[in-house]
Amino acid sequence: TRLGILLSGRGSNFVAIADRIARGELRGCEIAVVISNKAEAGGLAAARERGLTALAIEANGRKRAEHDAAIIAALREHGVDLVILAGYMRLLSPGFVQAFPQRILNIHPSLLPAFPGLEAQEQAFAYGVKVAGCTVHFVDEELDHGVIVTQRVVPVLDADDEATLSRRILAEEHEAYSEAIAKVVSGEYEVAGRRYIRKG
Ligand code: GRF
Repeated sequence: TRLGILLSGRGSNFVAIADRIARGELRGCEIAVVISNKAEAGGLAAARERGLTALAIEANGRKRAEHDAAIIAALREHGVDLVILAGYMRLLSPGFVQAFPQRILNIHPSLLPAFPGLEAQEQAFAYGVKVAGCTVHFVDEELDHGVIVTQRVVPVLDADDEATLSRRILAEEHEAYSEAIAKVVSGEYEVAGRRYIRKG
């Protein structure tokens, strides 16, 4: 399976996936290309250090559909069959979602459907929840909404602040993403309504 990673920032989720592949885990997966909509993203530099193909494709004032078309073209050129959003801070156009049906994953730092959108960890902390976590899900046309592949839970401790809680969630994200990719590429699961379950 040829993975195409999309990111906008530091790229720690991308690095966690790349490290697993380098260790021989996630067998059958390779990273075909890493694309950022921000040329200065730390994740792009990390990709280059690893000798991976790393492209900056910025919007440069283009409309979303046009920018997305350029990204889709690059993904196709590199033979990508599974798109991994790893801190990609832009909504995908419907055309993008339709170009890769059930072949785009996203990670979100909350137990969806709680706290979609930006600063999910801060939202959870402010709400006073006692458990938090992260979700890997298929991308559909609504924000942080598609069918859930995997979730991981962490406790919220009395001594926490937003930063300590965010770190605890991030550590689980780094495990959850590879677990979700392994599930999807195994071919052993299927979408049944809103549920992602082992094939009967
Ligand atoms: C993560 O918290 C992820 O859940 C969210 O954006 C953040 C990206 O972090 N979608 P990183 O760039 O992978 O370090």
